Amino acid sequence: MSQNDIPRRILVTGGAGFIGSHTAVALTEAGYVPVIVDDLRNSRPEVLDGLERILGHRVEFHAVDCADEEGMKAVFKTPVHGAIHFAADKAVGESVEAPEQYFSNNIGATAKLTQMLRKAGVQHLVFSSSCTVYGEATALPVGETAPIQPAASPYGFTKQACETLLGYSHAAGQGELGIALLRYFNPIGAHPSAEIGELPIGTPANLVPFLTQSVAGLRSELTVFGEDYPTADGTCIRDYLHVCDLAEAHVAALQWLEGHSGAMEAFNLGTGKGSSVKEVISAFETATGRAVPHRFGDRRPGDVMAIYADASKAEDLLGWRTKRSLEECLADAWRWQEKLA
Ligand code: UD1
Repeated sequence: MSQNDIPRRILVTGGAGFIGSHTAVALTEAGYVPVIVDDLRNSRPEVLDGLERILGHRVEFHAVDCADEEGMKAVFKTPVHGAIHFAADKAVGESVEAPEQYFSNNIGATAKLTQMLRKAGVQHLVFSSSCTVYGEATALPVGETAPIQPAASPYGFTKQACETLLGYSHAAGQGELGIALLRYFNPIGAHPSAEIGELPIGTPANLVPFLTQSVAGLRSELTVFGEDYPTADGTCIRDYLHVCDLAEAHVAALQWLEGHSGAMEAFNLGTGKGSSVKEVISAFETATGRAVPHRFGDRRPGDVMAIYADASKAEDLLGWRTKRSLEECLADAWRWQEKLA
């Protein structure tokens, strides 16, 4: 077997989740072998069936907590080429109620996993970060050199802390472990096959799943949080990108790490274009021909008014940019919702 024939196994923690499952597809399409590690505390085993229908084979799956050293032994038995660390708690509101859980599950687990990766001699790590590290941006679009603002929530703090921790790990390893920090803006949509998508457990906290559930009649209506922001139409602005575009960025980051041994860089992942909540509603209506039942309510505490990415670094270094439109994102999200409902 030549060097090129050795399967490039990529550990995907949280691989049964929304972004992780789509990344497992993109990895496979690029010739990697995803190995999903997910204890299913916030995802469902049916995701693995959806992946099988898309890929035509079962993905290697380990139902363990990625911070459980004993449980992870089986994963590391076969050489691991790289890791993408998605597994984390991600609800801003919940993090305010349960900060200890967020510190332990997000920061503690990242520390444990990174220790295991270094011990196993893994050379590439892609970390799932967030635009939340920028807080209320002082200038738009936000580039990677924008100041990291004090976190607005425990969740936001955990992303900042993990980035800092990984900086120390990188230094301690003296470049043995290359790291890409991917700062996502707002991932939405679903795989066009409607075999995988977002599976919020309980009431969705995010805009698009709440919107599609309202259109499907599972919720009476969407509440738009605030119509009095100093934006063009009074509603908040975000940078919504298709989860399949985002998944492809992980592959691009991995390939970049392979060519830049021991590097560490942060990349913004977004479209570069801001859309207001009202624009999302009207894009959904255009894309699907369905009306969105909605009303305008109070601002949601902790929301920033506007944020969108300067994603030119990802384009210049990774050769990655988004390809799918907002309408495509929303049509795919709706196809997925229709299948669920
Ligand atoms: C937040 C975090 C992001 C995190 C994500 C995970 C910030 C700045 N962003 O994204 O880092 O990864 O949560 O969950 O902390 N909206 C409504 N009605 C709803 C729901 C949302 O109007 O029922 C509005 C919000 O006010 C916001 C926009 O829709 O303007 C998007 O909200 P959401 O989908 O929750 O994402 P963020 O808060 O941007």
